[in-house]
Amino acid sequence: MIFKPFMREGFMPLPVAFISSISKSRIRNIAPYSCIMPVLRPLDLICLASARKRDTLDNIREIEQFVVNLVGTDFCDKVIPTARFSSPEEDEFELAGLSEKPSSLVDPPGIQGAYAWMECELAEFHEGKSYTLIMGRVLRLEVEDDVLTPDKGLDIKKAKPLMMTGSKKGMHYSTLSDLESFDPFGAMFPDGKDPLEKMHGS
Ligand SMILES: Cc1cc2nc3c(=O)[nH]c(=O)nc-3n(C[C@H](O)[C@H](O)[C@H](O)COP(=O)(O)O)c2cc1C
Repeated sequence: MIFKPFMREGFMPLPVAFISSISKSRIRNIAPYSCIMPVLRPLDLICLASARKRDTLDNIREIEQFVVNLVGTDFCDKVIPTARFSSPEEDEFELAGLSEKPSSLVDPPGIQGAYAWMECELAEFHEGKSYTLIMGRVLRLEVEDDVLTPDKGLDIKKAKPLMMTGSKKGMHYSTLSDLESFDPFGAMFPDGKDPLEKMHGS
């Protein structure tokens, strides 16, 4: 079948990350964002594609900080309460019945119950015609010990990352399953060595 080009995310499951931010008058905001990606290994940048009319975008312009909260499937019922239009004066932690997890390096709080938190500062904006790419620098990355494997990778079965696939009618939520299959980064290089290996330390 051939689909319309804008149906991209129907066939490309995306993460559902919750972005927490605060306004100049310190009103707390949360919004789910699926157009989110890290920018290249080993940079510390993360990119969010934002529509123009977003309190999240206004807050990031003003405060230049935000938190990317990575959540499990138990946050499925928090998507609509945080995605639904609400006035910038409304506290979206209260609205969605979520508690804050104080951040260490930035003012906006994280969300309690997420399995990982990226405290970010604004690096730069890229303005498109109808969208803004928000480039954030991750200052601090914290992951719940409970969702780590013994070698400190993400335990997919425990974290159950919340994912979304679009369709004509709406959003279908899902999570990942582990193939128990692994390749070292070095396998991509002719000498079998990962040039970035040193960055990970011992
Ligand atoms: C699963 C899901 C993913 C979304 N992803 C994005 C996104 O990547 N970028 C965006 O601008 N809006 C996205 N939205 C829409 C915003 O979450 C929604 O407009 C929200 O009300 C914005 O809140 P704010 O005005 O408080 O920032 C998404 C909505 C849902 C339900």
